[in-house]
Amino acid sequence: MLSRVFGAGTEDGGHEQVVLCHDRSSGLKAIIAIHSTALGPALGGTRFFPYPTEEEALQDALNLSRGMSYKNALAGLDLGGGKAVIIGDPAQDKNEAVLRAYGRFVESLRGRYVTACDVGTYVQDMDVVARETSFVTGRSPEHGGAGDSSILTAFGVFQGMRASARARWGQPTLRGKRVGVAGVGKVGHYLVGHLVEDGATVVVTDVSETAVNRVRAAHPEVGVAADTAALLASGLDVYAPCALGGALTDETVGALGAAGTAIVCGAANNQLAHPGVEKDLAERGILYAPDYLVNSGGVIQVADEIEGFDFDRAKKKATRIFDTTLEIFTRAAADGIPPALAADRLAEKRMREISALRSVLLPAARRS
Ligand SMILES: NC(=O)c1ccc[n+]([C@@H]2O[C@H](COP(=O)([O-])OP(=O)(O)OC[C@H]3O[C@@H](n4cnc5c(N)ncnc54)[C@H](O)[C@@H]3O)[C@@H](O)[C@H]2O)c1
Repeated sequence: MLSRVFGAGTEDGGHEQVVLCHDRSSGLKAIIAIHSTALGPALGGTRFFPYPTEEEALQDALNLSRGMSYKNALAGLDLGGGKAVIIGDPAQDKNEAVLRAYGRFVESLRGRYVTACDVGTYVQDMDVVARETSFVTGRSPEHGGAGDSSILTAFGVFQGMRASARARWGQPTLRGKRVGVAGVGKVGHYLVGHLVEDGATVVVTDVSETAVNRVRAAHPEVGVAADTAALLASGLDVYAPCALGGALTDETVGALGAAGTAIVCGAANNQLAHPGVEKDLAERGILYAPDYLVNSGGVIQVADEIEGFDFDRAKKKATRIFDTTLEIFTRAAADGIPPALAADRLAEKRMREISALRSVLLPAARRS
């Protein structure tokens, strides 16, 4: 396990720092993984999850923090990649003492890691964490925070989808296209709103009836598929995975190919179930908008909050996802590689070039 931290068997040389946090009195068990500070303090959320084993918790922290380095780099942020996991069931184990103990460990890193919300943690939790550390963002509006990040996440995904439509059909609009949204939770339901407004025919699916009913109440014209398999088989032009990770398996890509779907662009993190799926998509002529590129609206929002949140400024930054998505497609076509690989290369290029600037000595900054 330690060799994975130090980079054995990985292409990117491993992680900078991984901190195991244990507070005996509150029972906190957390792992803070800093993948890279090449571009600045490592920013990434805190996942509160009942991992079956500590190894799985560590593996998740390593994967997620690495993903944040790439997401933050491509979003043009001066922030590196990190992520934390708290081991436990948020419904039972989350309380003030646990969150504040966690905040003290974040504070102990003195700004090398900045935390925020993720699965199992909410803006109100970050307000509690903030009682022990100033290195926290994604806070509630009552405490000067930006609040719900899913609004800009959905807006960013919509920009990525418009760019994909432009690349595929020549026009940056989903008007007249059939778009399937799998998962209409916080992000998915806002995305449906953008699509309906743009003139798309929208079909949704969700395991939660409440989530489906909420979308139908706001947009009665939206169709509903029984499940993801039915959605994929329904002849979509665009598939938007907005539920859990791993949505793009060999089976789902086969179904998309059989149905003639042209574009995959959605909010879910880690959509590619295993390496090689991105190649399969490309070979079937399905344009894949890389997940961490198009879903970066949320991190753009929490990063903006660090300097004092301004919604219009953050929205303007999220609008750039349109241009970056087009740039990735152009680079992918020029290099004959899948867009997912082109995105990785562009993120790595920025990390390399910007971190190299530190070779220019700034005498006042003794340790930069
Ligand atoms: N919230 C953000 O700002 C943000 C930012 C970046 C990425 N993401 C990613 O986007 C995805 C959605 O995030 P969210 O905040 O909307 O989460 P959410 O929990 O609010 O919504 C997810 C929805 O997916 C549904 N779902 C779960 N399993 C399903 C299945 N098998 N089939 C269909 N529906 C299913 C759930 O019932 C829920 O309604 C996640 O992968 C998340 O990591 C979210």
